[in-house]
Amino acid sequence: MKRCARVIGSGGYLPETIRTNEDISKLVDTSDSWIVERTGIKTRRIAGEDETAASMAEIAARQAIEMASIEAGEIDLIIVATGSPDRVYPSTGCILQHRLEIQQCVAFDVQAACSGSIFAMSIADQYIKTGAADKVLIIGSEICSRLIDWTDRGTCILFGDGAGAVLLESTDEPGILSTHIHSDGGFEDLLYCPNPQVATASAKDEKGVITMKGNEVFKVAVNTLGRIVDETLATNNLDKSDIDWLVPHQANTRIIAATARKLKMSMDQVVLTLENQGNTSSASVLLAFNEAIRDGRIKRDQIVLLEAFGAGFTWGSALIKY
Ligand code: COA
Repeated sequence: MKRCARVIGSGGYLPETIRTNEDISKLVDTSDSWIVERTGIKTRRIAGEDETAASMAEIAARQAIEMASIEAGEIDLIIVATGSPDRVYPSTGCILQHRLEIQQCVAFDVQAACSGSIFAMSIADQYIKTGAADKVLIIGSEICSRLIDWTDRGTCILFGDGAGAVLLESTDEPGILSTHIHSDGGFEDLLYCPNPQVATASAKDEKGVITMKGNEVFKVAVNTLGRIVDETLATNNLDKSDIDWLVPHQANTRIIAATARKLKMSMDQVVLTLENQGNTSSASVLLAFNEAIRDGRIKRDQIVLLEAFGAGFTWGSALIKY
């Protein structure tokens, strides 16, 4: 019997503090109406001083473990997607493993910016299909607020903090139907976050903040996500109408609407969280997935398309029979 990866649990965590568009308009020259019209975002969450990617990941992970009714010690592999790790090393995955008091499992991080959780899902799927792992915990956890220049109106309006989790288990029933991941490093200059501590002498003065040519990123994102939809449907011999739910990366409502149009989907079939979360980078898809699982929108046996696009550029999708 062919091995497949099935979703058995999910979790999500958002920090308490809410930062509104009104709050941001006191920091930079912008307005609530501009931000809502151009992005769809109204508020985002900001992590507390003592919170880290690992501390938020732990809360989301424990929820997923509880939903799955398993012991943390049964997990074979932890993959944390983050661009805001607690430390350069050890990995946030190892820090999380320790927090969950798991003695023996493999843990590591994946860095694929906003596509990180889809990359993690693709890796987990390969581990499960080959029999290398039975239970895999995937996390996307980000403190974007500490990588933001709060005087740059092109970026500070967009991002927020949070963590999402999914637990996968091996099964011989259909679960993850396919994953598709891609990278093109040629777009580095359109979206990046320097690391001044390890930069060359000429780049030492760059600030360690997200730097983006938003308009150009927007155009590539719309085209690329359109292509990944076609690729995913073709691989599975499915029609657009076979997809029950679209769970997109939450970067901009206009980008999401373009993908929904491509799928001939009504926005009622799209899980939207960005209005009150902003772009939580690698956490966003898993936070949205968790929300729609927990509120009962996504039901067992429905077909769900997860997709994301991020710095690199990186992009990817996962088609799941939930
Ligand atoms: N408030 C008010 N005006 C703003 C503004 C803000 N926060 N940010 C930019 N503007 C101004 C610009 O200065 C420009 O003014 P000008 O016409 O006088 O030169 C005008 O608005 C249009 O700027 P532009 O950059 O073309 O806006 P946009 O419609 O592309 O919206 C983003 C900007 C960032 C919201 C949008 O490009 C976007 O969402 N890009 C994708 C970002 C993304 O997904 N990144 C993460 C990938 S994972």
